[in-house]
Amino acid sequence: MIDYPEYYERCKVKYSADNKISRDASKEEAFYRDPVRQYDLSSISESYNTAVKSLAQKVKYDLDNDIDVKDDGIMPKHYNIWKFSSEIDTICNILVPKLEEDMFLCNLYVDKIYIYRTSPVEERTSSYIWHYDNNPNEVVKTLIYLSDVKDDRNSPYEYFVNPEGSGILGKSTRTGGSVWYVPANNSRVNKEVDSLMSQDKGYSTKKVFGPQGTTCSFVNNAVHRANPVIEGYRDVINIRVKTTLEPVEKFADPRWTSGFETSGVVDRNPENAWNKLV
Ligand SMILES: [Fe+2]
Repeated sequence: MIDYPEYYERCKVKYSADNKISRDASKEEAFYRDPVRQYDLSSISESYNTAVKSLAQKVKYDLDNDIDVKDDGIMPKHYNIWKFSSEIDTICNILVPKLEEDMFLCNLYVDKIYIYRTSPVEERTSSYIWHYDNNPNEVVKTLIYLSDVKDDRNSPYEYFVNPEGSGILGKSTRTGGSVWYVPANNSRVNKEVDSLMSQDKGYSTKKVFGPQGTTCSFVNNAVHRANPVIEGYRDVINIRVKTTLEPVEKFADPRWTSGFETSGVVDRNPENAWNKLV
């Protein structure tokens, strides 16, 4: 079985050949060197804004009224993403090509969509602790704010950065092939972050603020955390993409895209792309 980096390389070879574009080493290398990126998709397309706004209203209604929602006391989660398929299609049709052209330089499909609300938790647990997701690096999540995140009170996404100001990748214990095991401490890295921050070497953190529609893409192993809500609420849609050799007929589809109802760990074999629902 090949691993994810090797499969990604094959995908880039095929994509550049199919689209008759020459490969750009500096752009390719930036995928790992600069793993967290903010995109201003609202300036690209008004329909992106319209879809986000429509989705935000519907999601807020469901979360406010406990419809199709399961609340574990940490993050109320939506369990019926396909009722929003029209908005999901519009958003994915704008977002995914952008990620293909700017970040990955290969074909992508959507394997996960998570819709949830952060909570005013008193003690940090779960995603409120510094962590990385520990799927292969070639799996990228995009967080789209469905509500305004004006300041620290509104639960900003936060990521750990090196002295150059770029996100930092945790070491994945799942890269595919022979490397596939459970990470130490469930890939929670509070201690490591605290230690590096205290050494005065230029390590710091960045928080993502912005109005509804603010879009941030990150390699799932970029060290990150959610912050608890202090005031108001924060709803998001989180769209996860994976590399694929063959272009998919539709980016997000119930045949190969799932939500919270199944595990977040990707298939160990990268060649089982969108022809298999994990
Ligand atoms: Fe996470």
